[in-house]
Amino acid sequence: MAPSLEPSSHSELSDDALAFLVFVHLEQRDQLGANGVIKRVAQPDRLTGGSRSIYAYALHRQGQTQQGIDILRGQLNDRDGLLAQYFLGKIYNDTDQPELAIAAYESFAFAFPHYPPVLAELTHLRLPGEDYMHALEVIHQTLAPRIYFEIGVAGSFPLSAEAPLRIGVDPDMSGLPAEEKQDASLFEMTSDQFFQQQNVPEILGHRPIELAFLDGLHLFEFLLRDFMNTERFCDDNSVVLLHDCIPIHPVVAQRERSSGPWAGDVWKLIPILRKYRPDLKIATIPAPPSGLVMIRGLDPNSRVIAQNYDEIVKEFADAKLDAFSSTYQHALGLIENDPVAIRRSLRI
Ligand SMILES: C[S@@+](CC[C@H](N)C(=O)[O-])C[C@H]1O[C@@H](n2cnc3c(N)ncnc32)[C@H](O)[C@@H]1O
Repeated sequence: MAPSLEPSSHSELSDDALAFLVFVHLEQRDQLGANGVIKRVAQPDRLTGGSRSIYAYALHRQGQTQQGIDILRGQLNDRDGLLAQYFLGKIYNDTDQPELAIAAYESFAFAFPHYPPVLAELTHLRLPGEDYMHALEVIHQTLAPRIYFEIGVAGSFPLSAEAPLRIGVDPDMSGLPAEEKQDASLFEMTSDQFFQQQNVPEILGHRPIELAFLDGLHLFEFLLRDFMNTERFCDDNSVVLLHDCIPIHPVVAQRERSSGPWAGDVWKLIPILRKYRPDLKIATIPAPPSGLVMIRGLDPNSRVIAQNYDEIVKEFADAKLDAFSSTYQHALGLIENDPVAIRRSLRI
């Protein structure tokens, strides 16, 4: 039971303040409290801006959905119309109208890109289902790799615990708990330093990497180098995974990290590999928050990317993305986000 937020006397509060209290109750999932406060709004027709949007949303939560939608639609061109978009998104989401909810949330997110609940709602709508950690777990179980290699180890490294040799690279391991470091070969340095300075064949015991997860710096030229350098130590049975190639909104795909979720522009690897390495097999799990790409058919002798690296970086520097266009979705080679589809895709 949420603690009561009600002041001793609502009669002293303005209708705007009461609307705000209604919102606080709703956010706390306290429908009864919200119902109690909404009754005290003396002149609902005179509410404006955000207060009016909240009131409209509260009507929906009381079962008067169409009335709420009508009020919000009438506000879209007002000064605070973006708030109306936000609450319309919530109503469409509640009433199972995902396309309308996505459109409303997207407009809102362009204006307020780092309001986490909206990006979370968009993620949920765009990429429903289990998150990428679950997909990683299925991949680990399916392949049972003897040699696992990860760039950017903060967070997901414990999943590799079963691999006899697990190698992690990250310039900042301060967040990695001690128990996750146990029995791992960790290199606290950038991935470029790792490939340039370390005797990688020796670290690998002169065997191929069986599974790699490349999740370091989220800029495409870095991931392209990580991919090209990792592939040299793979064979045709290896699988390389890339993270973050389905940014759920353009604001998370910007090259500069501001705040909140960040996928950067690593999505460019998809068109790059499709163009320069059509021999690779690419399949993508649409797992939240930003997809997981599985690459097979690797060729350690390929030098196509290395030989064209500068040209590729120049060519794709200004590339733009519509992540949910059919062209891009096709290039991703989307599979279903479920263990059966993941296993099937890994065995073909
Ligand atoms: C998104 S986090 C990794 C998350 C982790 N793989 C997971 O799934 O929970 C990105 C990591 O990349 C690391 N990183 C940043 N620049 C890097 C670089 N040049 N080389 C390798 N890792 C880098 C960061 O320190 C950070 O820990």
